Amino acid sequence: MKPDTFLTEKTFSFNGSNNHVYLVDAETHEKTEIHHQLQGLNIYIEGNDNEIEIMLPIGKFVNCNIYITKSIGAHVVFENYIYLEGCFFSIHNGEKQNIIIEKYTSFTGGATIWVHENSSLHIKQDCMFSSNIVIWTADGHAVYDIKSKKILKFPPKELVIGEHCWIGYNCSIYKNGGLAKNSILAASSVLTQTINEENVVLAGNPAKIIKRGVSWSRMSTKEFSEN
Ligand SMILES: CC(C)(COP(=O)(O)OP(=O)(O)OC[C@H]1O[C@@H](n2cnc3c(N)ncnc32)[C@H](O)[C@@H]1OP(=O)(O)O)[C@@H](O)C(=O)NCCC(=O)NCCS
Repeated sequence: MKPDTFLTEKTFSFNGSNNHVYLVDAETHEKTEIHHQLQGLNIYIEGNDNEIEIMLPIGKFVNCNIYITKSIGAHVVFENYIYLEGCFFSIHNGEKQNIIIEKYTSFTGGATIWVHENSSLHIKQDCMFSSNIVIWTADGHAVYDIKSKKILKFPPKELVIGEHCWIGYNCSIYKNGGLAKNSILAASSVLTQTINEENVVLAGNPAKIIKRGVSWSRMSTKEFSEN
């Protein structure tokens, strides 16, 4: 795919220094810096030393925004063949945050993803996110003991969603949340802990394991049973 087929006429206007956006060939790792917005993905950066890498071939971006504000040294990697629709990323108030979305992952129909303070987000390959998704990797504000004024909990380093997980409609994933490979988060669930067991279904608020030894396919039940 030629870069000029998905770049727009609009150039980036960033506030801060040493902020860069690159297209990266997934096979050769050859990097090309770009200065124009991509179709379907609006990028705004305010802060210093931030870097975004978009890997080729691009899947598709529809009505998406990345806002990096008051962050220093954030590194965002969108791997090849991801599909992002209606996603708003707020990367804010941190140092050296890493945001990685691995190849073939899809978000269909709206997600707000907040990577604040010194936390990071790693979504592994081939995950499928339904609509109306919320992800917060940190709380965003301090919670402290009123006597000692000591912070109760610092943000965890990284929120990880394992390879080939399905996040159902209207799910929320908060700090300390995480899933292992091939798992399903049932519709309208709220995930607040990391589940290290693979091939499970979680449901409820807070989400708990309701089934073990399962997996899922992007195919419909009809297509799957005919295969
Ligand atoms: C995860 C899912 C596939 C599980 O389906 P399932 O394996 O048939 O689960 P069951 O219907 O057998 O439910 C098992 C138990 O979990 C409960 N449960 C199922 N989904 C739940 C949910 N979203 N929240 C809370 N509890 C739930 C059921 O009430 C049942 O409880 P019980 O044993 O006390 O009766 C399904 O619940 C789901 O959420 N699908 C996602 C739908 C969606 O978001 N589609 C968008 C397409 S991208």
